[in-house]
Amino acid sequence: MTILFFGDIIGKIGREAVRKVLPDLRRTFQPDAVIANVENLAHGKGVTDSTYQEMLDMGVDVMTSGNHIWKQKQGVAILDRRDSKLLRPANYPPTNPGTGVKTIEIGTKRLSVVNLQGRVFMHEQIDDPFQVIDRILETLPLGDRSAIFVDMHAEATSEKVALGWYLDGRVSTVVGTHTHVPTADAWIMPGGTGYITDVGMTGSRDSVIGVEKNAIIRSFKTSVPVAHEIPEHGEVTVNALVARIDDASGKTKTIQLHQQLTNV
Ligand SMILES: [Fe+2]
Ligand SMILES: [Fe+2]
Repeated sequence: MTILFFGDIIGKIGREAVRKVLPDLRRTFQPDAVIANVENLAHGKGVTDSTYQEMLDMGVDVMTSGNHIWKQKQGVAILDRRDSKLLRPANYPPTNPGTGVKTIEIGTKRLSVVNLQGRVFMHEQIDDPFQVIDRILETLPLGDRSAIFVDMHAEATSEKVALGWYLDGRVSTVVGTHTHVPTADAWIMPGGTGYITDVGMTGSRDSVIGVEKNAIIRSFKTSVPVAHEIPEHGEVTVNALVARIDDASGKTKTIQLHQQLTNV
């Protein structure tokens, strides 16, 4: 099974970039499933009905998210739709809308996608992702045509690396998201789990992690918060991960970060 995963897609410029590059990426990598982190899909914050529909129209199979998923009422409502393809991190308290686990059938194969969020340097009071994934994995098979893909949405590299080690051999692939900056550590761990600390974003290149850069520089210089504007045109950096998973074992055979620039 081949999975193509886009890190945080940021605003219209990010959506347009995915629309532009995805047909070529499908031809090149022949993914069985396309997954995307969409927490920043609608002008950088959350998901709306129309931006969710855009992703469905592009054929995205499952959407993961993170701390920004709560910013749009429409997106929160999508979480509770029957057959929703949008996940929120599983370790928010269960009283919240939605779920953090989705299993899809791809022919005779099964892919379970799990979304988690870290706690270090993040503001939310959420449950321990290590204990939550333990409970989730009790219910999910690995191998014999079943794969498990985990998006750990977190700020601290240490927390993501630790989770990678914790899940080595127990899931197919662990990817990090949230920082919007890709890391150069895609590898296959000793137990056969594919791992990368952060896939990075699909968003404006001439920006500060996807946001108009001059206001952010001013904010750092003045210590005063600014409104976040998302550039609408220009070069876009596309960061996507390609993982090839062995059907029999559920372990990752190859993992590679695909990076390209495109103009929107
Ligand atoms: Fe993000
Ligand atoms: Fe985030």
